[in-house]
Amino acid sequence: MSEAGRPRVVVLTGAGVSAESGLPTFRDDDGIWRRFDPRQVATADAMRRNRAQALAFFDEIRRASWAAEPNAAHRAIAELERRFDVDVVTQNIDELHERAGSSRVLHLHGRLHWARGSGPQPAFVRIDDRPIAPDERCAHGTLLRPDVVLFGEDVPLIDQAAGLMRAADRVLVVGTSLSVWPAAGLVLQARRAQQRVLVALDVDDEPPGYDFRRGRAGEVVPQIVAQWLG
Ligand code: OAD
Repeated sequence: MSEAGRPRVVVLTGAGVSAESGLPTFRDDDGIWRRFDPRQVATADAMRRNRAQALAFFDEIRRASWAAEPNAAHRAIAELERRFDVDVVTQNIDELHERAGSSRVLHLHGRLHWARGSGPQPAFVRIDDRPIAPDERCAHGTLLRPDVVLFGEDVPLIDQAAGLMRAADRVLVVGTSLSVWPAAGLVLQARRAQQRVLVALDVDDEPPGYDFRRGRAGEVVPQIVAQWLG
């Protein structure tokens, strides 16, 4: 329970929650990693050595993310705040949870509509949907880059996310293949939760202790939320 006496809910989401908003996932048949090699565009090394191509990749997905609208799943997740103390922990770098009305959203893998410098204490810049130029620098003089977690980089918010999972009374996991670590390990942290539900079209391994509801997030999540809101 939260201090206000409301049960704590954590909603852990991945690309599948935004699929019905028209944003492709990463590993499904039409997924982003079928069109792009992540080693060429989404590693720390690629951002250094292959900067123009890496920036162009993020420019493309940033434009798509900006043009997309929240769907029924995002809206239902925001509705949970009527009864529960809700934290959304998302692997997504879009802002569709915020735009649907969720008030606490932890972006485990960063934020596509922000940029930051490359130094140890970077300045952050809100960029909305605009591209980052290859020679563009932040206020501290280091090269600007998307404020996203690249492969091979630490996930600075993982401990905070794990703490939320451990304190949760109920957990709803939506639209993630649970194939990227350390994010995938979060499902195992929800030991005290009375209810644990996973919604996806498919997962690599069903996590133990979860009720797997196979289906589209835009259809299944509103049903679960309606049940939970009673
Ligand atoms: P994936 O592409 O790996 O998995 C998408 C999941 O969503 C799969 O389980 C699909 O079955 C499911 N799915 C697809 N459409 C759906 C729908 N309409 N309704 C419900 N489920 C649906 O995406 P993530 O698990 O989010 O990281 O990928 C994790 C991380 O890998 C991303 O955050 C990104 C990527 O590389 C970084 O870039 C660091």
